This record gives sequence, C-alpha cells and structure tokens, in this order.
Amino acid sequence: MTNTRGQWGSRLGFILAAAGSAVGLGNLWKFPYKAGINGGGAFVIIYIAVLFLVGFSLMIAEIAIGRKTQLNALGAYRAINKNWGFAGAIGILAGFIILSFYAVIGGWVIKYLFDSVSGSLFKINAVDYGGHFGSFISSAGSPLFYQALFMVLTLVIVLGGVSSGIEKASKIMMPALFFMMIVLMIRSVTLPGAIEGVKFLFKPDFGKAFTPKVIVDAMGQVFFSLSLGMGCMITYGSYLPRNTNIPFSGTMILILDSFVALLAGLVILPAVFSFGFEPGAGPGLMFITIPAIFSKMAFGNIFAIIFFLLVLFAALTSSISLLEVCVSYVVDEFKKNRIISSVILSIIIFLLGIPSSLANGAWSDFKILGYNFFDFMDMFASNILLPLGGLLLCIFVGWVWKTKNAVHEIQNEGSLKFSIAPLWSFIIKFISPIIIIVIFLTNFGIIKL
Ligand code: PFF
Repeated sequence: MTNTRGQWGSRLGFILAAAGSAVGLGNLWKFPYKAGINGGGAFVIIYIAVLFLVGFSLMIAEIAIGRKTQLNALGAYRAINKNWGFAGAIGILAGFIILSFYAVIGGWVIKYLFDSVSGSLFKINAVDYGGHFGSFISSAGSPLFYQALFMVLTLVIVLGGVSSGIEKASKIMMPALFFMMIVLMIRSVTLPGAIEGVKFLFKPDFGKAFTPKVIVDAMGQVFFSLSLGMGCMITYGSYLPRNTNIPFSGTMILILDSFVALLAGLVILPAVFSFGFEPGAGPGLMFITIPAIFSKMAFGNIFAIIFFLLVLFAALTSSISLLEVCVSYVVDEFKKNRIISSVILSIIIFLLGIPSSLANGAWSDFKILGYNFFDFMDMFASNILLPLGGLLLCIFVGWVWKTKNAVHEIQNEGSLKFSIAPLWSFIIKFISPIIIIVIFLTNFGIIKL
C-alpha cells in the first residue's frame, strides 16, 4: 500500500503545501477579527506564547507520526497503537465541521471577487461597506449559492488530486500573497489615524483583557491557524520522503503562518481605526475594511481583484486539506470509491453549512449556549475539538508511542541532529498537555486564573 501513495516533489513543495493548508481564512479573516473582539494586544501575546510552546511541538509531532506510518489520520494512530484510532476520529469530525462553515466564508470571498471584477464593489461609499456586507450575508439565497460554488471548487481540486498542480501553483501564489499583503499593510498603516490600530494590536491591556475567553480563543486560533489537532499534518507528513528535515520544515510552516496572520492584522486593524469602524465587529471585518481601503487607493479596483483572488486561493489550499482528511478516511476505512466518497461528503458538508450561513440572517435568533449556529460550530470545533485532538496527540506521543521513538523518527533514524530533543520531549510530555488542560478547566470555570 505504501508504495502506491503519492510523495511531495521536493522539500519546498511540502513546506508550501503544508503552509498552504495552514495559511488560509484563519489568518486573513479570523485572526484580525478575533484580535478585534478580544482586546487586541492581550490576544496577540497569548497567541504567540501558545504558538511557540504548544504549536511548535505539536506540529513536529504530527508530521513525525505521518511520516513514520505513511497513513491517514486514523490509520496512523492505529498503526502505532490499535486502541488509539479514536483520536484520529475526533480529528476527522473536526475537519468535517470546520469545512462546513469554512465554505460559507469561502463563498463570501467569491462574491467579493465577482463584485470586484464587475466593479459593483466600488459603487459604494467607504462608510457604507458595513451595511452592504450586512445585507449580503443576511440574505438567504445568494450566500448559499456562493457557498455551494466554493464547495464545488474544493471538490474539483480534490478529485483532480492534490498533485503537482497545487504544488506548482503554491509556489507562485504564496509569494504573490505575501507581496500583496505587504503593499496593503503599507497603505493601511499610512492612513490618517492608523497608528491607533497598530497600538491596539500590540499593546496589551494587562488590567482587563486576560479573561478565560481571550485565552481559550487564542489557543483555538493557534490550532485552527496551524491546521493542528485534526490529523491534517499527519496526512501531509505521510507523503514525505524519509530524509526530510522535520524540525526545519515545521519551523518554516510556523513562521510563514504567524507572519501572514500578523500581517493581516496590520492590514485590517489600522484601517479599521482610520475609517472609524468598530474593531469588535466580528466576522465581517475583512469584508468591510478591505474594500474601504481599496476604494481609497489608486487602481484600487485592480488590487481588489488580485487580493480576493489570492484570498480565495489561500482558502482553497486549506479547504482541500480539510476535505482530503475526511475523504481519505472514508476511502481507507470503508473501501469506497474515491470519487463517489468525495462527492457525497461534499454534499453532506454543504448541507451542514446551510444553518451556519443562515445564522447571519434568517436564523440569527436560534442560539446554542448563547452562540448563533455559525459561532457555535466554530467554537466547538476550534476551541474544543482541535485542542482536545492536540491533547490526545501529546499523550499519545509522550506516553504511548514514547518520545524516544518519536525523536528517533524526527532524527531520521539517527542521521539528523535534533539538538532540542530533550526540551521538545519535555514539552510534549508535560508542558503542552498541562497548558491545554489548564486552559480547558479555566474555560469551564473549574479553575480561576
Ligand atoms: N489552517 C486553516 C486556516 O488558517 O484557514 C484552516 C484549517 C485547515 C484548519 C486545515 C484545520 C485544518 F486541518
């Protein structure tokens, strides 16, 4: 079975594909708005702390399991210990749920891309972008149409195979995305009054902003943004050749991902302050401020087309990884045809996403634990399932597979130096699980920080 599986063309190919999975709507859309509703700097500091302590060690652990077993998420756990398949199953469930609401946002991106191309986006006055966005997402038909379109695009790529097309396209689109983001960041921070946004992002309010909700949101964001806790990096790691440098690749993915997130924050929040928008406006932040910035820029209409195209690409390189985790599970476990499985899964995921879309309009009064359906799905998957998947991963690698064996794999069976192995082992066995458990208990009010 192993030799029929694909392999990445090169180390760069893997890094870009894995970074393609990591860099997505989580960075461009979610990070700035989560920072916005969670008091800015406090959120960013906790995010960076969790990123380096927990994110880094888990990234390496997931890739190592994948490369060792050369199997999908569930199969990989079970190959090492037959009782641990459930940990992979939790991840697959998370992927299923995340893709259902991810496609809703992906649809919004397509709509904004079309409106940039037709020019209708620029018939609006800069201060009206909020109202325009609100009336679009609260309507019933149009967002569902675009959501379906996003699912179809995701499906088409997955059916075609995540082969050299994606790997090659990533090599062009990822640098293009960085370049665009830097241009936009410069425009945004030089708007009048923009400095308030920069301060908001980097100046933590130690007095009141460190609440359990901020901390849990920051942890959820790390998992979501790095595609961790649901076996995605296990799956991608399973296509790696034996001689790859896992710590180096993991570090690069981490750096690229956090760089894009901070850049997105620096594009969006300064503009929010400059135009007098509300930083805590929530999911619409990117769709309101970005068009407003473009409307103030020379050739803004052209930049808008390129920007939304790149966001769409970033979203698709992530959504295919989400769908792939589910598809490979169904194909492996139930021995079903890959094409039929992909189509059926896409339809079910689309249907599950409908209430998330309607939660922004017709069904906004329907609440679960105080959250609308969309926010509930996000909270449940990102703040509960992914960290739970991460916790199980630490316990598995630290105590079941054992760090000694994991380090042997990371060191390419002895030929590569992994000088921080003792520190990494300690973090996987003790620090990361303790951080995740403490954050969980704090969230449920069982302990008070
Ligand atoms: N990391 C992606 C993003 O930031 O948009 C979302 C994601 C992809 C989460 C794949 C989890 C995953 F397995």
